Amino acid sequence: MWQSALFTAINTFISPQRFEPVYPINELAVTPPMGWNNWNAFACSVNEHLLLSTAEKMAAFGLRDVGYQYIVLDDCWSLGRDKNGNLQHDPEKFPRGMKFVADQLHSLGFLFGMYSDAGSYTCARYPGSLGYEEQDAKTFASWDVDYLKYDNCFNEGLAGNPKITSERYRTMKNALQTTGRSIVYALCNWGEDYPWKWAHTVANVWRMSGDIYDSFDRPDPRCPCTGEEGYDCPYAGSHCSAMNILNKAAYVVHTSVAGAWNDLDMLEVGNGGMDDEEYKTHFSLWAAVKSPLLMGNDVNVMDAKALSILTNPAVLAVSQDTAGVPVNRMWRYYVSDTDTYGQGEIQMWSGPLSGGDQLVILLNAGNSPRLMNATLADIFYDSGPEGSAPEIKENWDIYDLWANRMDEATAQSIIDGSPTSEVAKFYYNATETSYKDGLAAGNELLLGKLTGMVEAGGVIETEVPRHGVAMLRLRKHSVGETFTVQESS
Ligand code: GAL
Repeated sequence: MWQSALFTAINTFISPQRFEPVYPINELAVTPPMGWNNWNAFACSVNEHLLLSTAEKMAAFGLRDVGYQYIVLDDCWSLGRDKNGNLQHDPEKFPRGMKFVADQLHSLGFLFGMYSDAGSYTCARYPGSLGYEEQDAKTFASWDVDYLKYDNCFNEGLAGNPKITSERYRTMKNALQTTGRSIVYALCNWGEDYPWKWAHTVANVWRMSGDIYDSFDRPDPRCPCTGEEGYDCPYAGSHCSAMNILNKAAYVVHTSVAGAWNDLDMLEVGNGGMDDEEYKTHFSLWAAVKSPLLMGNDVNVMDAKALSILTNPAVLAVSQDTAGVPVNRMWRYYVSDTDTYGQGEIQMWSGPLSGGDQLVILLNAGNSPRLMNATLADIFYDSGPEGSAPEIKENWDIYDLWANRMDEATAQSIIDGSPTSEVAKFYYNATETSYKDGLAAGNELLLGKLTGMVEAGGVIETEVPRHGVAMLRLRKHSVGETFTVQESS
């Protein structure tokens, strides 16, 4: 008897499933979801026309075909509940109902995202789903919804520790699963009660901070945590700048796994509060840490620069890389060239890509351009500390992921509805050929531009603009390969 018990114990101990990773709740988001959400640009000004005209423009601009699939309707779409407790859409905003919106979006090749709240009211004080989870999940499924953003306002105090919060959110996860429809579940509790510790078992994505604000690094009292306090933030708040969110994300992004991602909040690219370099930085880091990429701008007034950022194939290939490993911040230093907000720092982020490549980001959040460098020892620190990583003994080709960015005239030709033949030089259709297949075939649009090589034990050195990044893909230099340094753009 004891022998068989011992055998079972040993067997359990050595059995392979003991080492299996924590599986996310489903396979709907094996790479970070991409799409558009109305909140950043429109807040409560939502209606059928906005969603459908945005989707049409996104298809025409090639945004759908690079992967921006989900059109997510945020707060303020509802009228209340009917006498049976069923959620009602606002008929003035959505005269033909939500199923009609879903059908139209599906016929345009998009997926439809909806919004509700794990509380008695949404943040804008429309009815929430707390206590109505099964009924509301059925309603969303009957409307053919493909994605649910689930907020945290008016939660009746059912928060304060991971158990209470996770149970409140798990109720909706179970309700969604019971409908039998495939619905991506996007938990939005702003990082309260440490979702990065438990939300893999509840949701596909979870917000890890307060609401984003269209500023590179402006501090705001409504976003009191700065990242200096580690990941323990008692009040998530709103008006968090891109750098503020990034500095908090540095503690937690490593907890993402394929199918379950930390969400740094929707993009601000194109909304006007940052300059071009700052938007490139914001987009690069969101892609590199594997945040969902939900555009948050008004597509009807999309400018050429924003379009060329949002469609950069080499950066999108990083976001959608099948290895699904976020970069980590390897170092951070404060610098004396601070901006008007008193902010100034530099950072280096690094992490593996599929196929043995490595991503490196040198971030200059100082107030002037500077020469920055990263040693291979620091870049591969996670493979072995103090210079012991085997990768340090290799020579690496360096590919610049922004060097082949679409020029403004070409992007403008797309916006004007008369794309020139130049578009093909910069645009990658990931619906035709996936990023994975394109990378495997060595597609140059996805690899970026070969700009140099770093030898074993060496240092990468590059000029980085103010509030900008160098975003580099390192690929092992093949023995015998003749290397010619290309002109940098
Ligand atoms: C916030 C949420 C925002 C937006 C807003 C709607 O809680 O973080 O992204 O959804 O509510 O009222």
